[in-house]
Amino acid sequence: MILVTGATGTIGSEVLRRLAARGEQALAMTRDPAKLSARAVKADFADPASLDRALEGVDTVLSLTAFGRELPEHDLALVAAAGRAGTKKIVKISAIGTGETDDEKDIRSWHHHGERAVRDSGMAWTILRPAGFAGNALMWADTVRAGEPIPNTTGSGGQGVVDPRDVAEVAVEALTGGAHDGMTYELTGPEVISVPEQARVLGQVLGREVTTVEIPLEAARQGMLASGAEPLLVEVAMTGAAFVAAGGAERLSGDVAAVLGRAPRRFADWVRDHRAAFE
Ligand SMILES: NC(=O)c1ccc[n+]([C@@H]2O[C@H](COP(=O)([O-])OP(=O)(O)OC[C@H]3O[C@@H](n4cnc5c(N)ncnc54)[C@H](OP(=O)(O)O)[C@@H]3O)[C@@H](O)[C@H]2O)c1
Repeated sequence: MILVTGATGTIGSEVLRRLAARGEQALAMTRDPAKLSARAVKADFADPASLDRALEGVDTVLSLTAFGRELPEHDLALVAAAGRAGTKKIVKISAIGTGETDDEKDIRSWHHHGERAVRDSGMAWTILRPAGFAGNALMWADTVRAGEPIPNTTGSGGQGVVDPRDVAEVAVEALTGGAHDGMTYELTGPEVISVPEQARVLGQVLGREVTTVEIPLEAARQGMLASGAEPLLVEVAMTGAAFVAAGGAERLSGDVAAVLGRAPRRFADWVRDHRAAFE
C-alpha cells in the first residue's frame, strides 16, 4: 500500500491519478477526506497519533509537506511515524537548491532537515528537488483575465520551471520501483524562463498580448505585509525573488528525461493544457 500525503494538492493529486491508472493500491492522506473521492485517511502532520493511524499497513509513503513555517517539523514528524510503522520506503518532495544555505528566510533551507531524516531513516528513499512549478502561474490568472499586467519582482531572472505533471510522473516511478532508491534528483523543465518570457508564452497561447510590470522588492514587501501575510513568509518570498532576479535559479537538469525517457514538458505545454484558467 502506498500512502500519498499532500494528496489534495498540486503534486499529490497528480500522483494519485497516475497510481490509480497503473492499478496501484494507494491511500490519500488529507485533513479533510470529504475533499476526495479517492480512498482517503484523515491525518494531520501536527498530530502524531493521526500519522500512526494513516501509516498502518503502508509499505511506501510519498512525503509532501506544505509551504509554511511548520514544514521542517512536519517533515520530521512523518519520517518518525513511518519509522514507528515499519514503512519500507519514503519518497520526499523537496525543493531545488536544498542545503545550499541555512538561512531560515531562504526556502532552500526548509527541506534540509527533512532530507537528512529521510536519508538517515534506514528506509529505502528517493528525494525529488523540483524547480518552480509551472502551476505557480495560476496566481496570475485573475490578473491575466482582467487584461492587467502581471506583477514581476524577479526582473529578467529565469528559472527551470517544471511542469507539476512531470514531478508527479517521476514520483510515481520512484514510488513503484527500486531503480531510483538512494537517488536525489533535481527536476526542471527543458528551458530557463523568466516571468516576462512566461507572459509572452501566455500571450502566444491566448492569442493576445500579456505584459508584465516591474514591482520593486520593497513595494512588494509592504504590499504583502499590508495584506496580512506572515512576516517570515514575506521575507522568504523576498529572499527568493532577489535570488531569482540575480540569476541564482538559472540552472537545468537532465533528471526528468533520465527517469522518464522523454524530454520534460515546456511551460507552453502547461499553458496550453490550462488555458481555460486564463480566459
Ligand atoms: N510551488 C513550487 O514552485 C515548488 C517548487 C519546489 C518545491 N515545492 C515544494 O512542493 C511542496 C508543495 O507541493 P504542492 O504545491 O503540491 O502542495 P499544495 O498544492 O500547496 O498542497 C498542500 C498539501 O498539503 C496538505 N497539508 C497542508 N497542511 C497539512 C497538515 N498540517 N497535515 C497534513 N496535510 C497537510 C494539504 O492537504 P489538506 O489541506 O487536504 O489536508 C495539501 O494536500 C512544498 O513542500 C514545496 O516546498 C514547491
